[in-house]
Amino acid sequence: MAKRILIDCDPGLDDALALLLAHGDPALDLVGVTTVGGNVGLTAVTKNALELREYLGFPKVPIAVGAAAPLVRESINAARVHGERGLGDIVLPAATLGVTGSHAADLIIDTIRAAPGAIHLVATGPLTNIAIALEKDPAIARMVASFVIMGGSFTRGNATPAAEFNIHADPEAARIVFAADWQVVMVGLDLTLQAQANGRVIERMKQLGALADDLIVPLATFYFDPKDPDRDGQAVHDVCAVAYVARPDLFASRPARVEIETTGEFTAGMTVVDFDSGEPNALVPIELDVAGFWAYVEHVYGLVAAKHRQG
Ligand code: BDR
Ligand code: CA
Repeated sequence: MAKRILIDCDPGLDDALALLLAHGDPALDLVGVTTVGGNVGLTAVTKNALELREYLGFPKVPIAVGAAAPLVRESINAARVHGERGLGDIVLPAATLGVTGSHAADLIIDTIRAAPGAIHLVATGPLTNIAIALEKDPAIARMVASFVIMGGSFTRGNATPAAEFNIHADPEAARIVFAADWQVVMVGLDLTLQAQANGRVIERMKQLGALADDLIVPLATFYFDPKDPDRDGQAVHDVCAVAYVARPDLFASRPARVEIETTGEFTAGMTVVDFDSGEPNALVPIELDVAGFWAYVEHVYGLVAAKHRQG
């Protein structure tokens, strides 16, 4: 049976590629999408999610809107990376369908409670909605099939030298999420930077036709144009989190105790990862089977691209 997956996201170039994977893989059943302000503002990321839903062809999957701002801090964004609208230069047809009436946190709670033990919850943006859901209904932590985030790192940051963007955007939410009664699969930068859409990957993607020309390649090359095929490309961070749900065999992981720095003058949002002592609260993928990952992702994108060609 397909694994049921709910994605909380802030599309976002790589969030869009992650939604494409979740929708396209027949081994996954995308049951809900929730949006959170992050890469760009909440209105823009929600617009992107709505337009992607119709463009990619999953109109029945509910989309619920969540938090516009972090729990206690001022919002930051990553428009510099993802473009002012969040999807680089891509302009999709306007959506004709709207969001559900419920808050993202309620859609998360209701979806998990309706199918205890069956929902794989994936977060690819700041953890604000997940924290709100846990504050409202802490028991959901024991009711998920798994909880996977793209966020954090054990060596370095990207928003600051110490902190990765999704955790840095709302450290207080991340602290609530890592303290909850579940194992956080922390797909962090150390892992996702292994998943680079370099020139060779892009050349293969281009064979997929219109979907690649119009969506996949522009998303995967917006801030890093891979001219030299063997050089690094743009990392598809959020795709790794969805891939983990479908293909955990592609990842080598280690248990760890992860604490979130919320007060550091230079380190707010840092994930302090202890592989050696303390009660583990997380599983940290550290090594990716890069060839296997791209074979998997390209296969799934190929399935969607074939349907797309048929209209
Ligand atoms: C994460 O930050 C965002 O900009 C990306 O969408 C990804 O979720 C990478 O640090
Ligand atoms: Ca994201």
